This record gives sequence, C-alpha cells and structure tokens, in this order.
Amino acid sequence: MRHDREQKSIAAYRCGFISYMPARLDFIQSATGLILALFITLHLIFEASILISKDAMLAVTKFFEGYYFFGETYPGIISFLAASIFFIFILHAMTAVRKFPSTYRQYRIFISHNNNFKHSDTSLWLYQVITGSIMFFLGSVHLYMMMSQPSQIGPYASADRIYSEWMWPLYLILLISVILHAFIGLYRVTLKWGLFSLFSKNTGNSKQDKKNKVLMKKWMFIGIIVYLTISLLSLGTYMLIGYQHADKVGERYHSQPQTQPAAPVAEEPSAK
Ligand code: HEM
Repeated sequence: MRHDREQKSIAAYRCGFISYMPARLDFIQSATGLILALFITLHLIFEASILISKDAMLAVTKFFEGYYFFGETYPGIISFLAASIFFIFILHAMTAVRKFPSTYRQYRIFISHNNNFKHSDTSLWLYQVITGSIMFFLGSVHLYMMMSQPSQIGPYASADRIYSEWMWPLYLILLISVILHAFIGLYRVTLKWGLFSLFSKNTGNSKQDKKNKVLMKKWMFIGIIVYLTISLLSLGTYMLIGYQHADKVGERYHSQPQTQPAAPVAEEPSAK
C-alpha cells in the first residue's frame, strides 16, 4: 500500500505534477533561522560583557578582531563575519517572505482566522511576520554599519554611537523584535520538525506531546524574559557610558594599566 503510494508520488514527480521545492525552501528557512537564533543568543551575551566592565567588553572586541590569535587586531574579520551573517539573514528573509500575506485581502482573511480561532500558535505566527518585517529593515542597517565600520567597536566607540549618534531607538526596537522573533522561532521550528524527540523518548503519544508543547512554551517565555532583561540592562549601560563620554566623542577606550604596589623605598642607613 505504502509502496504503491510512493510509486505514484515518484511518477507524479517525474511528470512534473509534484515539486519538492516548497519543502526544500521550508528546510532552508528553518536551517538559516536556527543558525541566526544561535548567533543572536551568543551575540547578546557577548554584548552584555559591558555589564561586567569596559575592559571585559574590550577583551571580547579584541577576541573577534583576532588579537588573541595573531597578536594584532584585524577588524576585517568582523566585516567578514557581518557579511556572512548578512548573507544568511537575506536567505532566511527571502524564504520566509513567500508565506507572508501579499495582498490586503489575504491579510484580512488571516486576521479574521486569527480572531475567530483564538489559537495561540497562529497568533505567534503573526508576531513572527511583524517582528521579521521590523528586523529586515533595522537589522540590515545594523549589519551594514558593522560591515563598513568594523574598527568602530569598543566600550567608548559603541557607547558614543548608541548615545551621541542616536542609535539607541533603533537598538531598542531591534532588540525587542529580535528576541521575540528568535525565541518564538525556536519554539515553532522545534514543533514543526519534531525536534523534541531528540530530547524526549515519549513522543508520538498525544498526552505526552501536549505536555512537551506546554513545557516548550514555558522555555520560550523564560528565554524571552531572561534575554530581554540582560539586553535592556546592556543597552542602558552603553547609554550611561555614552552620556558620561558625550563631551569626548571619538576618543577610544584603552584598558587601564594594573596599578603596581608601590616599591619599598630603600632607606639610607643612618650614620651611628
Ligand atoms: C556579525 C554581525 C554582527 C556584528 C559584528 C554585531 C555587532 C554589534 C555591536 C558591536 C553592538 C554594540 C553596539 C554598537 O557598537 O553599535 C551590537 C548591538 C546589537 N546588535 Fe549586533 N552585530 C551583528 C549582527 C546582529 C544581528 C544579525 C542582529 C539582529 C538582527 C543584531 C542585533 C543587535 C542588537 C539588538 C544590539 C543591541 C544589544 C544591546 O544593547 O543589548 N546584531 N551588535
């Protein structure tokens, strides 16, 4: 029976009735989404090094500029990294946008479905459409800046850009959008491809699947709250540093030399 069905679908594919393209595009969308979500969760943690100290943020910047590997900084590495992420970002957006409502009529139909069903996973998809559209514009500005000015990163350079160059409204909207998008995306991808079976042996049993879904939703909310808290604190810290440094915009931060304990002063032997 199953063999018959497979034969029929292979024949239909050969005759050009079935295209595997939508499935391939779906796979590319999920795979690029996973890479970007992983990137962003690490990126926001590295950015949060400013919460430890300016020196910690400088050390992270130098690390990505290759200082600890080559003994010199190469900001070109950051440009290369930003260009690679930009490529994945565009691929993800292109494969996702084909599912967006493309006319006002389609949009109305989707909204009325959403309102009638009151199904939380359908509403989550709407959030993905909204946050994805915001990220496409704001994320592109940020990535282009990182690609074209890779040497302008550091405790003062970043803080000046955020505060004195008025980038903070863009970062504020971008960080809320990106965190919602990443964690909702991770939840949806786990459901869509049945990735939960990697961690739980009991999948396939509908009661257990429901429990797993509730558990995953809980993790999604925890992730959103933890990351929003860390990232808002980091943005606030950059703003405070930028505010304190506003009269010296352009000056770069250099790590503070460790203060050496004062050398004991040799005493001249007193003449007895
Ligand atoms: C390799 C690519 C990237 C590099 C090198 C990079 C670098 C940076 C740097 C240095 C900052 C600190 C602010 C500044 O200096 O302007 C920052 C902040 C930020 N970036 Fe990126 N970024 C990259 C990709 C992305 C992507 C793809 C997104 C999301 C679409 C993103 C979202 C953010 C957000 C939301 C902040 C503010 C974080 C906060 O204040 O807590 N970044 N990024």
